[in-house]
Amino acid sequence: MKYLVRGGSKPKGDIAVNGDKSITHRGLILGSLAEGDTVLAGYSRGRDCASTIGLLQKLGVRIREADGALTVAGRGRFGFKEPDDVLDCGNSGTTMRLFAGLLAGQDFFSVLTGDGSLRKRPMDRVIEPLYRMGAEIRARGRGRCAPLGIAGQKLKGITYEMPVASAQVKSAVLLAGLHARDNTIVVEPVATRDHTERMLAHFGANIRRISDRAVRVTGDNRMTGKKLIVPGDISSAAFFAVLGAVAPGAEVSVKGVGVNPTRIGILDALRAMGADINLSGNRIADPEPVADLTIKNRPLRAVELGGSMIPRIIDELPALAVAASQAAGTTVIRDARELRVKETDRIMAITAGLKKMGAIINETNDGLIIEGPVRLKGATCTSFDDHRIAMALTIAGLIAEGDTVIDGADCIAISFPEFADTVTALAGPGALSRIGE
Ligand code: S3P
Repeated sequence: MKYLVRGGSKPKGDIAVNGDKSITHRGLILGSLAEGDTVLAGYSRGRDCASTIGLLQKLGVRIREADGALTVAGRGRFGFKEPDDVLDCGNSGTTMRLFAGLLAGQDFFSVLTGDGSLRKRPMDRVIEPLYRMGAEIRARGRGRCAPLGIAGQKLKGITYEMPVASAQVKSAVLLAGLHARDNTIVVEPVATRDHTERMLAHFGANIRRISDRAVRVTGDNRMTGKKLIVPGDISSAAFFAVLGAVAPGAEVSVKGVGVNPTRIGILDALRAMGADINLSGNRIADPEPVADLTIKNRPLRAVELGGSMIPRIIDELPALAVAASQAAGTTVIRDARELRVKETDRIMAITAGLKKMGAIINETNDGLIIEGPVRLKGATCTSFDDHRIAMALTIAGLIAEGDTVIDGADCIAISFPEFADTVTALAGPGALSRIGE
């Protein structure tokens, strides 16, 4: 399926976005490990979270949907059953990496696989620490890529200094640590999203932050099911924050968005560029902070981003690149090499798409250099089957002159199935049409 995007839109209005993907994965997983029921209201209906649901069901977990919420019947820490088939994680890196940690300490054999993109992504980053904990995992590509065969073992706790800043790796080790003898400590090079730690504490697990970059779990945990209200996904709201910031005359409000400090790099970056962003109605949807965002169009200036900011904005960098194309001066993004091993090489993909639309954007090894402001022109672009590239280019198309075609727009359903309807609600009917199968 393709999108036909009409340029020159004037977005105005209030929207809500889908439930946070990262938090939904964790709610489902911890709910399964807990005793009693966990209810997830406002959960993500994207395909990645459906992959996590599918895996848990194959492991014997009952998950029901009623009145817009999911109920997970927890089975306790060692309550999973051996799956009788391979576990297909689809496109979801979070599913594969978190389940590698979860399954390494179970008393059975399992195989994790995924789609063509996921089978190319590095899995040695989780295999290596799990191996040190005593896991037995075999992988394709000299131990680097899925499929992964996991023969569950009795694990021992370790202290792991992570070489890459990755919340997925941190979470995999912590989940394995729940099933290990002794304590497990994870030390991060730079702080990454802390949803796993918050949620473990909320479910009653024995977890303790020992410094701003180190966290410890014990292996003798008992967790109890909870009722969770999943906040709106800041990674989805980011596309509309950028649209509101750069579309002439725009004013956009996004209600009920998660504003965890480890996730809001996009808001800080846009503010540093001079954007008019207001947070109101700050509240807690235990264990996460939530607020309503209002973004108004205003001229932007270039910004330099790197270092500890990068994990806080990693998934939003394609959207930020669109904002940078409209900002006066040279925007430089450094230390973002991780973008090259996402669902696609996002440095390559956003450069290819925005260049086609007339942006002055160039790749570096670990980032981007973007000159602005440039009036974008409609073009035919490809998503490279990456949901965040497809959505970033749609936002670029909405502010461009003329029509833009986004090839391979189906992948948007990975994280944000409601995206097209949300664009239409803000920019009016005809701003976006679906064409082809
Ligand atoms: C995620 C962590 C990040 C992020 C991904 C979701 C998570 O990946 O890019 O979309 O839910 O833990 P890394 O752990 O690879 O940085």
